[in-house]
Amino acid sequence: AAVLGLTRGSVSAALDAAPGAGAPAAARSGFHNEPDTDPSMPANRAWGRRILARVESSRLGVDAITEAAVTDADQLDRLIASVAASGEAWGQLPGAERAAVLHRAGLALAANRDRLIEVMAAETGKTIAEADPEVSEAIDFAHYYAERAKGLDAVQGAIFVPSRLTVVTPPWNFPVAISAGGVLAALAAGSGVIVKPAKLAQRTGAVMVEALWEAGVPRELLALVDLADRALGTQLISHPAVDRVILTGAYETAQLFRGFREDLPLLAETSGKNAIIVTPSADLDLAAIDVIKSAFGHAGQKCSAASLVILVGSVAKSERFLRQLVDAATSLRVGRPADPTTQMGPIIEPAEGKLLHALTTLGAEESWLVEPERLDEEGKLWSPGIRTGVAPGSYFHLTEFFGPVLGVMHARNLAEAIRFQNAVDYGLTSGLHSLDPAELAEWLDTIEAGNLYVNRGITGAIVQRQPFGGWKRSAVGPGTKAGGPNYLFGLGSWVTNPGRN
Ligand code: ALA
Repeated sequence: AAVLGLTRGSVSAALDAAPGAGAPAAARSGFHNEPDTDPSMPANRAWGRRILARVESSRLGVDAITEAAVTDADQLDRLIASVAASGEAWGQLPGAERAAVLHRAGLALAANRDRLIEVMAAETGKTIAEADPEVSEAIDFAHYYAERAKGLDAVQGAIFVPSRLTVVTPPWNFPVAISAGGVLAALAAGSGVIVKPAKLAQRTGAVMVEALWEAGVPRELLALVDLADRALGTQLISHPAVDRVILTGAYETAQLFRGFREDLPLLAETSGKNAIIVTPSADLDLAAIDVIKSAFGHAGQKCSAASLVILVGSVAKSERFLRQLVDAATSLRVGRPADPTTQMGPIIEPAEGKLLHALTTLGAEESWLVEPERLDEEGKLWSPGIRTGVAPGSYFHLTEFFGPVLGVMHARNLAEAIRFQNAVDYGLTSGLHSLDPAELAEWLDTIEAGNLYVNRGITGAIVQRQPFGGWKRSAVGPGTKAGGPNYLFGLGSWVTNPGRN
């Protein structure tokens, strides 16, 4: 989101307006993107340091997760029935009434920005620079979907029938924005919600949900669960009372969910294997920055991250460009999120399996431009790696790794570069760095990805401006994009030609 000169601190504008502070209930309507915190202002840096000082000992969310424990099948059945019943009543309210609650939720998320950053850093290792825009995105979802909820009442020739119950299963890597996005969309569309945060980011999910409860979203309507075992997870996903499941996670998880219940109405945003293509016409200085940020932001643990950079023609021989990539990668400060100088934090769990392989093993024709180093005992802190000579059709070319390792490929021309990107099973994000309109037209015509970025990094979609959704194996479901005008439409059913008017 945009950066404006606002200071955070003891009395923020958002806190003033939040319920409980004596402000009118619907103190906000309409939509604009929430500004991120501007770190160039000394007051904001001091605010950030106060948050970071609490990270190592943070216990935020612990109590809420304890309360959310569901330990047996009967308890889960009762919860499902009661949230569905609340959802039915909620769905009968006019969209404008739901919108007022959603707007309050946005204000409550804004008032909790510091707590959300603290718990994200504590639990997932996210740096403040990555966590802060994530809170802005969550706030954006609230206000944006609030406005879209009003529109559901006014669709001509069709009646929108809300779901009674939506289950939201968010990922650990965007534990605030994507969790809030799914929950708020379902609420806006008139559904009750059960949210099951990812195991690795449960406390963050809990703090987010607590903010929504504070804002007046009833607990009966929005339930937080920590399921004791896998069998309960299966029971939840396959339960016939569940009208929709919103999943963000691996493609394999979406397949697993489908296996539980064939007719499951699933909206899933799944895996990615994303490339930035750089052509000789590009502004290479800008391209280098965007590649590094897209590859190593949140240590590469984004479905949207650049895992490949495809250098077209003479770019592959530009020593200056390659040196810029190397210098930028090796100068990133890797460390604990509580350290304000950290630019790249740890990975969520000690590297193993595919990721460990990608960090330590080269393919036949590959060599390290920058060899990743393990910086701690545990195997969570790694310096960024760049491998070059990634061959078309090779393991690294086609596999998602979800960590701080970037592969360089060479293509003779743009058409070949596009073929390399399109050869992967996924189609999530894709970037082009080029200043040639003919190249842009060719790329737009043929590239297979849901989210396209030109002369910009390929992570960090912005609500309303860049609705986010995948293509090919990066999405399962109706193909509506989060943060876009159609997303709520996929969250209920439609009765057409209802014979009215
Ligand atoms: N929406 C997230 C991004 O764009 C995944 O990076």
